[in-house]
Amino acid sequence: MDSSDRDRAAERRATRRGLLAWGGMVLGMAVSYGTAAFFALRYLSPGRRARTWRAYAGGVRDIPRGGSRTYTAPDGRKVVITNTGEGFVAFSDVCPHLGCKVHWEAARREFHCPCHDGVFDAQGVAISGPPAKAGQRLARYAIEATDEALYITLMEG
Ligand code: FES
Repeated sequence: MDSSDRDRAAERRATRRGLLAWGGMVLGMAVSYGTAAFFALRYLSPGRRARTWRAYAGGVRDIPRGGSRTYTAPDGRKVVITNTGEGFVAFSDVCPHLGCKVHWEAARREFHCPCHDGVFDAQGVAISGPPAKAGQRLARYAIEATDEALYITLMEG
């Protein structure tokens, strides 16, 4: 084997290595971009939208006019269901200011947050305290009253 044969053999090995490196890079990019595209499509697909569920939340007669009670959702969320006298409303018990627990004050027909004296009207709109200054309101849930029962609609997450 003379020097020109050795040069050609070295050149072929270098070409094969280059081809393998290029193929590895293309395969790596395909896997990376494919994975990113898969998760992007999965996130954006209609099936990914937040699911809602409807749950029995107690009897209509369990909450007298002006009264309220706390319902615990299957995922642990607490919902204050109130009979305002004009119908039932359901709000998260989490104050939008800094997350303290709000409660219904029947005599004043308001929700009160004890942490910073936040007050919300019967429709969950802040009317006093830091939440009012920030224009906040309680998170609301749909509630339906039949002759006998209350059903609440909750959104996943
Ligand atoms: S946490 Fe409710 S008013 Fe501040």
